[in-house]
Order: sequence, then C-alpha cells, then structure tokens
Amino acid sequence: MNDFSKFGEAELKGWSEPETAAAYADGFASAAVQCVPDIVQASGAGNESKTLDVCCGQGIVAQGLSATGASVIGLDFSPAMLELARARVPGVEFVEGDATSLPFEDRSFNAVTMGFGILHIPNSEAAIREAYRVLKPSGKFVYSVWHSPELSAAFRIVFGAIGSLGSKDISLPPGPEIHAYANPDITYPALEAAGFSDARIDTSDSYWEIDDPAKPYDYFFEGTVRGALLLRSQPKDNAEAIRSAVGEAVKEEFGSQGPWKIPIPAAIVSAVRL
Ligand SMILES: C[S@@+](CC[C@H](N)C(=O)[O-])C[C@H]1O[C@@H](n2cnc3c(N)ncnc32)[C@H](O)[C@@H]1O
Repeated sequence: MNDFSKFGEAELKGWSEPETAAAYADGFASAAVQCVPDIVQASGAGNESKTLDVCCGQGIVAQGLSATGASVIGLDFSPAMLELARARVPGVEFVEGDATSLPFEDRSFNAVTMGFGILHIPNSEAAIREAYRVLKPSGKFVYSVWHSPELSAAFRIVFGAIGSLGSKDISLPPGPEIHAYANPDITYPALEAAGFSDARIDTSDSYWEIDDPAKPYDYFFEGTVRGALLLRSQPKDNAEAIRSAVGEAVKEEFGSQGPWKIPIPAAIVSAVRL
C-alpha cells in the first residue's frame, strides 16, 4: 500500500490558502465550469432529487445541481473554498468534511458528484466506497478528471516544458497519478470493486480561452496545489524558462496572435449504485 499521507497534508494546506482557492476559481476553473452541464446531466438530478457534491470547491457543480431543482449539499475540506461556494450559491448548504469519511447516513442521496476531486485524494478507493455507501440504490455517482497529456494540449504544453526545463532536484511527496481515473483500465475496476455497475466515460471538450500565451503556466502556478508545488520550487532561471517555453509552444501550436483557445478536455465518469 502506498503512503500518500504527505501528499494528503500538502493538498489540505494548499487548498486552504485563500489565494490558491480564489486563483483556481477565477482562472484554472474557467475550463471546469464548462463540464458542469455534463456532470449534472449524467447525475440525473432533478426536482425530487437529493444530491451531494463532494470536493465542491467554489460551488460550480452544486450550483448546476441546484438549478435543476434538486436539493444539494456541498462538502469540501477547505474553509477557503467553502467561503467561495457559500458566496456563489447562497441557497445551498455547504459543510466542511473529508471525502473519505462522509458525515451522512447510508443510502441518503439520489446522486453524488465530484468535480475534479478524485485526483487530489490519497485514498481514492475510500472516497469511492463512501460515495457508494451514501447513495440510494439506483443512485448515480459522477466524477470528472482531466484527460492525460496525449489528449490535452494544456497538460502536454505545461508538463512538457517542466520536463525539459525544470530543475531535476525538485521532488514532490508521492501521490496518486493525476489522470489515472480518466483511464478506463483504472477507473472501471475501481468502481466495480466498490459495487458500482454500468460505468461509462464521456468527454467534455473543455478549453481555456486566454489572451496571454503563457497563461497556462500562471493557471498551474497560482491556482493548483500539486502543479504549484512543482512550479513554485523552481529556481528563478528555470521558472522563467518554463513560462517562456509555454508561451512559445502556445503560439507555435495555436497561432501567433491571440486570443488563444487551449483544449483541456475532461473525462466525465459515471456509474450506478446497485
Ligand atoms: C480542483 S478543486 C475542484 C473544485 C470544483 N469541484 C470544480 O469542479 O471546479 C478540488 C477540490 O477538492 C477539495 N478536496 C481535495 N481533497 C479533498 C478531500 N479529501 N475531502 C474533501 N475535499 C477535498 C479541495 O479543497 C478543492 O476544493
């Protein structure tokens, strides 16, 4: 069994920083918000549904669920994120808690959603088991995960630049692979092991629209935790070289004049509780 405990501590600390939470909500999440209609549709949420949005962050998925007429509870472990969520969707209840130990009774919800949360959880199997436990029979579990660099210009360009120009002396606490749950060979067995059936993966063609070609660097630097750890610990020369290479790569691939539209597609994974 992997020890991802240091990674988990870094995630809690990072997402609890108000600057990181706000930067994610205002920048990186401009792509995440495009996935909300697909997540909400896959959840089957509607007028009579009771729904839970885990890793709710700034509340965009909770807001989408609420717009269907469903009752919604949002849960996140970051007080800074919860503050943003409460300001965004005043009618929804938001609670502080951990995705791997949900403070709810068995079989309470018709749908559980998790927008870009699973990749941040050291013990993701426990989070999937918890989603199963709190769902009613026939309830839907839906989560989103960023697709891997092979499908994602945003991840390919930023992590390509880090790979070629980043300092080799920087190491992060070991943690789960970012894109693992977009991979059917990992996500389907994990869902089946928890008891889910009818798992499927769809894709949201989300993108960043940017007017500075180096913006993808800034989005990772300012509004993530794992990516930021990697970028903020770079020596100045490496950091400048990486940011400049990101800008050059964007111009080379998407044209010399902005604004630029950078694909950062997401897997929308859904499954049914038996
Ligand atoms: C990338 S943000 C996603 C926010 C939002 N759901 C969206 O779709 O944009 C990840 C969120 O997961 C939360 N998170 C990470 N690990 C968690 C855990 N173990 N329990 C509860 N929340 C967690 C973070 O605080 C953060 O708000």
